[in-house]
Amino acid sequence: MTTPAVLILLGPPGAGKGTQARMLEEKFGLVQLSTGDLLRAAVAAGTEAGKQARAVMEAGELVSDDIVIAILRDRLGEEDTARGVILDGFPRTTVQAEALDTLLAETGQKIGAAVALEVEDAAMVTRISGRYTCGDCGEGYHDTFKQPATEGHCDKCQGTEFKRRADDNAETVAQRLQAYHAQTAPLIAYYDGQGVLRRVDAMGDIGEIAGALGEIVAEAC
Ligand code: AP5
Repeated sequence: MTTPAVLILLGPPGAGKGTQARMLEEKFGLVQLSTGDLLRAAVAAGTEAGKQARAVMEAGELVSDDIVIAILRDRLGEEDTARGVILDGFPRTTVQAEALDTLLAETGQKIGAAVALEVEDAAMVTRISGRYTCGDCGEGYHDTFKQPATEGHCDKCQGTEFKRRADDNAETVAQRLQAYHAQTAPLIAYYDGQGVLRRVDAMGDIGEIAGALGEIVAEAC
Protein backbone atom coordinates (compact mmCIF):
# COMPACT_ATOMS: atom_id res chain seq x y z
CA MET A 1 0.00 0.00 0.00
CA THR A 2 1.36 3.47 -0.84
CA THR A 3 1.70 6.05 1.92
CA PRO A 4 -1.08 8.68 1.77
CA ALA A 5 0.18 12.03 0.52
CA VAL A 6 0.37 15.13 2.72
CA LEU A 7 0.55 18.47 0.93
CA ILE A 8 0.89 21.69 2.95
CA LEU A 9 -0.27 25.02 1.49
CA LEU A 10 1.47 27.97 3.16
CA GLY A 11 0.56 31.54 2.41
CA PRO A 12 -0.98 34.70 3.86
CA PRO A 13 -4.73 35.39 3.96
CA GLY A 14 -6.00 35.71 0.39
CA ALA A 15 -3.06 33.86 -1.18
CA GLY A 16 -5.51 31.38 -2.69
CA LYS A 17 -4.98 28.41 -0.36
CA GLY A 18 -8.68 27.54 -0.20
CA THR A 19 -9.28 28.13 -3.91
CA GLN A 20 -6.37 25.93 -4.92
CA ALA A 21 -7.05 23.24 -2.29
CA ARG A 22 -10.56 22.74 -3.63
CA MET A 23 -9.24 22.40 -7.18
CA LEU A 24 -6.57 19.89 -6.10
CA GLU A 25 -9.19 17.95 -4.14
CA GLU A 26 -11.26 17.54 -7.29
CA LYS A 27 -8.34 16.69 -9.54
CA PHE A 28 -6.36 14.32 -7.32
CA GLY A 29 -8.96 13.04 -4.83
CA LEU A 30 -6.99 14.40 -1.89
CA VAL A 31 -9.01 15.69 1.09
CA GLN A 32 -8.85 19.42 1.91
CA LEU A 33 -8.36 20.03 5.63
CA SER A 34 -8.80 23.73 6.37
CA THR A 35 -8.34 24.63 10.02
CA GLY A 36 -10.16 27.91 9.28
CA ASP A 37 -13.21 25.94 8.07
CA LEU A 38 -12.98 23.52 11.02
CA LEU A 39 -12.82 26.44 13.46
CA ARG A 40 -15.73 28.28 11.78
CA ALA A 41 -17.76 25.04 12.06
CA ALA A 42 -16.86 24.82 15.78
CA VAL A 43 -17.93 28.46 16.27
CA ALA A 44 -21.23 27.83 14.44
CA ALA A 45 -21.86 24.65 16.48
CA GLY A 46 -21.13 26.51 19.73
CA THR A 47 -18.61 23.93 20.98
CA GLU A 48 -16.26 24.84 23.85
CA ALA A 49 -13.39 25.22 21.35
CA GLY A 50 -15.61 27.35 19.12
CA LYS A 51 -16.55 29.64 22.03
CA GLN A 52 -12.88 30.22 22.82
CA ALA A 53 -11.93 30.73 19.16
CA ARG A 54 -14.66 33.15 18.14
CA ALA A 55 -13.31 36.46 19.49
CA VAL A 56 -9.73 35.56 18.53
CA MET A 57 -10.76 34.92 14.91
CA GLU A 58 -12.83 38.10 14.76
CA ALA A 59 -9.74 40.04 15.92
CA GLY A 60 -7.61 38.43 13.18
CA GLU A 61 -5.29 36.75 15.64
CA LEU A 62 -4.24 33.11 15.80
CA VAL A 63 -6.30 30.65 17.85
CA SER A 64 -4.24 28.85 20.51
CA ASP A 65 -2.04 25.98 19.36
CA ASP A 66 -3.71 23.54 21.78
CA ILE A 67 -7.18 24.11 20.32
CA VAL A 68 -6.07 23.96 16.68
CA ILE A 69 -3.85 20.90 17.12
CA ALA A 70 -6.66 19.02 18.91
CA ILE A 71 -9.13 19.88 16.12
CA LEU A 72 -6.69 18.80 13.41
CA ARG A 73 -5.76 15.58 15.22
CA ASP A 74 -9.44 14.60 15.43
CA ARG A 75 -10.02 15.37 11.75
CA LEU A 76 -6.89 13.49 10.65
CA GLY A 77 -8.24 10.46 12.51
CA GLU A 78 -11.26 10.25 10.19
CA GLU A 79 -11.29 7.53 7.55
CA ASP A 80 -11.41 9.68 4.39
CA THR A 81 -7.97 11.18 5.14
CA ALA A 82 -6.42 7.84 4.12
CA ARG A 83 -6.75 9.15 0.52
CA GLY A 84 -4.14 11.82 1.34
CA VAL A 85 -4.67 15.37 2.56
CA ILE A 86 -4.09 18.99 1.63
CA LEU A 87 -3.44 21.04 4.75
CA ASP A 88 -4.91 24.50 4.10
CA GLY A 89 -3.97 26.97 6.84
CA PHE A 90 -2.15 24.47 9.07
CA PRO A 91 0.49 24.58 10.45
CA ARG A 92 0.70 28.29 11.26
CA THR A 93 3.26 28.29 14.07
CA THR A 94 6.44 26.35 14.78
CA VAL A 95 4.66 24.57 17.65
CA GLN A 96 1.97 23.39 15.19
CA ALA A 97 4.61 22.28 12.66
CA GLU A 98 6.39 20.21 15.30
CA ALA A 99 3.08 18.71 16.45
CA LEU A 100 2.32 17.77 12.84
CA ASP A 101 5.69 16.03 12.51
CA THR A 102 4.87 14.00 15.63
CA LEU A 103 1.36 13.13 14.39
CA LEU A 104 2.67 11.99 11.00
CA ALA A 105 5.45 9.95 12.59
CA GLU A 106 2.75 8.11 14.58
CA THR A 107 0.76 7.30 11.43
CA GLY A 108 3.78 6.58 9.21
CA GLN A 109 2.92 9.45 6.84
CA LYS A 110 5.33 11.93 5.28
CA ILE A 111 5.05 15.47 3.97
CA GLY A 112 5.28 15.29 0.16
CA ALA A 113 5.66 19.04 -0.27
CA ALA A 114 5.10 22.29 1.62
CA VAL A 115 4.20 24.92 -0.95
CA ALA A 116 4.78 28.60 -0.21
CA LEU A 117 2.24 30.61 -2.24
CA GLU A 118 4.13 33.85 -2.83
CA VAL A 119 2.04 37.02 -3.08
CA GLU A 120 2.15 40.75 -2.38
CA ASP A 121 0.37 42.00 0.75
CA ALA A 122 -1.31 44.93 -1.07
CA ALA A 123 -3.13 42.60 -3.48
CA MET A 124 -4.40 40.45 -0.60
CA VAL A 125 -6.66 43.18 0.75
CA THR A 126 -8.36 43.46 -2.67
CA ARG A 127 -8.74 39.70 -2.94
CA ILE A 128 -10.21 39.30 0.52
CA SER A 129 -12.55 42.26 0.44
CA GLY A 130 -14.13 40.89 -2.78
CA ARG A 131 -14.50 37.32 -1.58
CA TYR A 132 -17.80 35.48 -1.06
CA THR A 133 -18.80 31.82 -0.94
CA CYS A 134 -21.80 29.68 -1.77
CA GLY A 135 -23.86 29.24 1.39
CA ASP A 136 -24.75 25.65 0.41
CA CYS A 137 -21.53 24.03 -0.86
CA GLY A 138 -18.86 26.55 0.15
CA GLU A 139 -17.52 27.15 -3.37
CA GLY A 140 -15.47 30.36 -3.34
CA TYR A 141 -16.01 33.38 -5.60
CA HIS A 142 -14.74 36.94 -6.01
CA ASP A 143 -16.58 40.11 -7.06
CA THR A 144 -14.01 40.70 -9.83
CA PHE A 145 -11.72 37.69 -10.27
CA LYS A 146 -14.07 34.72 -10.10
CA GLN A 147 -17.78 35.19 -10.69
CA PRO A 148 -20.35 32.42 -11.16
CA ALA A 149 -21.00 31.61 -14.85
CA THR A 150 -24.68 32.46 -14.30
CA GLU A 151 -25.12 35.47 -12.03
CA GLY A 152 -26.58 34.57 -8.65
CA HIS A 153 -26.23 30.79 -9.16
CA CYS A 154 -23.37 28.69 -7.80
CA ASP A 155 -21.48 26.87 -10.57
CA LYS A 156 -21.12 23.75 -8.43
CA CYS A 157 -24.53 23.25 -6.79
CA GLN A 158 -26.77 25.93 -8.34
CA GLY A 159 -27.34 27.37 -4.85
CA THR A 160 -28.57 30.97 -4.74
CA GLU A 161 -27.50 31.95 -1.21
CA PHE A 162 -24.03 33.48 -0.84
CA LYS A 163 -22.19 34.70 2.26
CA ARG A 164 -19.19 36.79 3.30
CA ARG A 165 -16.90 36.06 6.26
CA ALA A 166 -17.09 38.14 9.44
CA ASP A 167 -13.29 38.54 9.47
CA ASP A 168 -13.04 39.80 5.87
CA ASN A 169 -12.85 43.51 6.69
CA ALA A 170 -9.85 45.80 6.12
CA GLU A 171 -8.91 46.14 9.81
CA THR A 172 -8.97 42.42 10.51
CA VAL A 173 -7.16 41.61 7.26
CA ALA A 174 -4.29 43.90 8.33
CA GLN A 175 -4.07 42.02 11.66
CA ARG A 176 -4.20 38.64 9.88
CA LEU A 177 -1.35 39.68 7.56
CA GLN A 178 0.68 40.80 10.57
CA ALA A 179 0.05 37.47 12.31
CA TYR A 180 1.13 35.66 9.13
CA HIS A 181 4.46 37.51 8.86
CA ALA A 182 5.26 37.20 12.58
CA GLN A 183 4.19 33.61 13.26
CA THR A 184 3.69 31.67 10.01
CA ALA A 185 6.30 32.97 7.54
CA PRO A 186 9.14 31.40 9.62
CA LEU A 187 7.74 27.99 8.59
CA ILE A 188 9.10 28.60 5.07
CA ALA A 189 12.62 28.17 6.48
CA TYR A 190 11.42 25.26 8.65
CA TYR A 191 10.26 23.27 5.61
CA ASP A 192 13.21 24.37 3.52
CA GLY A 193 15.34 22.76 6.23
CA GLN A 194 13.34 19.54 5.85
CA GLY A 195 13.97 19.58 2.07
CA VAL A 196 10.26 19.65 1.16
CA LEU A 197 9.73 23.36 0.41
CA ARG A 198 8.42 24.42 -3.01
CA ARG A 199 7.70 28.02 -4.01
CA VAL A 200 4.91 29.08 -6.38
CA ASP A 201 4.29 32.62 -7.66
CA ALA A 202 0.64 33.06 -6.66
CA MET A 203 0.11 36.55 -8.13
CA GLY A 204 -1.01 35.20 -11.50
CA ASP A 205 -4.10 33.61 -12.94
CA ILE A 206 -5.95 31.00 -10.82
CA GLY A 207 -5.65 28.39 -13.61
CA GLU A 208 -1.90 28.90 -14.09
CA ILE A 209 -1.27 28.53 -10.36
CA ALA A 210 -3.39 25.37 -10.35
CA GLY A 211 -1.19 24.00 -13.15
CA ALA A 212 2.00 24.65 -11.18
CA LEU A 213 0.53 23.03 -8.06
CA GLY A 214 -0.72 20.06 -10.06
CA GLU A 215 2.83 19.39 -11.27
CA ILE A 216 4.12 19.49 -7.69
CA VAL A 217 1.43 17.08 -6.47
CA ALA A 218 2.03 14.69 -9.37
CA GLU A 219 5.74 14.68 -8.67
CA ALA A 220 5.97 14.84 -4.87
CA CYS A 221 2.77 13.46 -3.36
P1 AP5 B 1 -8.40 30.83 7.39
O1 AP5 B 1 -9.80 30.48 7.11
O2 AP5 B 1 -7.34 29.82 7.20
O3 AP5 B 1 -8.08 32.16 6.60
P2 AP5 B 1 -6.72 32.74 5.99
O4 AP5 B 1 -5.46 32.00 6.19
O5 AP5 B 1 -6.73 34.13 6.48
O6 AP5 B 1 -6.88 32.50 4.53
P3 AP5 B 1 -8.09 32.89 3.68
O7 AP5 B 1 -9.15 31.84 3.74
O8 AP5 B 1 -8.51 34.30 4.00
O9 AP5 B 1 -7.41 32.97 2.24
P4 AP5 B 1 -7.04 31.86 1.20
O10 AP5 B 1 -5.56 31.83 1.05
O11 AP5 B 1 -7.73 30.56 1.46
O12 AP5 B 1 -7.63 32.57 -0.10
P5 AP5 B 1 -8.89 32.19 -1.00
O13 AP5 B 1 -8.57 30.97 -1.80
O14 AP5 B 1 -10.16 32.19 -0.22
O15 AP5 B 1 -8.25 31.34 8.91
C1 AP5 B 1 -9.17 32.25 9.47
C2 AP5 B 1 -8.84 32.45 10.94
O16 AP5 B 1 -8.95 31.19 11.64
C3 AP5 B 1 -7.40 32.93 11.24
O17 AP5 B 1 -7.28 34.34 11.14
C4 AP5 B 1 -7.19 32.40 12.66
O18 AP5 B 1 -7.83 33.21 13.60
C5 AP5 B 1 -7.92 31.06 12.63
N1 AP5 B 1 -7.03 29.92 12.24
C6 AP5 B 1 -7.15 29.13 11.13
N2 AP5 B 1 -6.19 28.20 11.11
C7 AP5 B 1 -5.42 28.42 12.22
C8 AP5 B 1 -4.25 27.79 12.74
N3 AP5 B 1 -3.67 26.74 12.10
N4 AP5 B 1 -3.74 28.27 13.90
C9 AP5 B 1 -4.31 29.30 14.55
N5 AP5 B 1 -5.42 29.95 14.11
C10 AP5 B 1 -5.98 29.51 12.95
O19 AP5 B 1 -8.87 33.44 -2.00
C11 AP5 B 1 -9.26 34.73 -1.54
C12 AP5 B 1 -10.08 35.43 -2.66
O20 AP5 B 1 -9.21 35.69 -3.76
C13 AP5 B 1 -11.23 34.57 -3.21
O21 AP5 B 1 -12.33 35.42 -3.48
C14 AP5 B 1 -10.68 33.97 -4.51
O22 AP5 B 1 -11.69 33.79 -5.48
C15 AP5 B 1 -9.67 35.04 -4.95
N6 AP5 B 1 -8.48 34.49 -5.59
C16 AP5 B 1 -7.81 33.33 -5.26
N7 AP5 B 1 -6.73 33.17 -6.06
C17 AP5 B 1 -6.69 34.24 -6.89
C18 AP5 B 1 -5.82 34.67 -7.93
N8 AP5 B 1 -4.75 33.93 -8.29
N9 AP5 B 1 -6.08 35.84 -8.55
C19 AP5 B 1 -7.15 36.60 -8.19
N10 AP5 B 1 -8.03 36.24 -7.23
C20 AP5 B 1 -7.81 35.08 -6.57
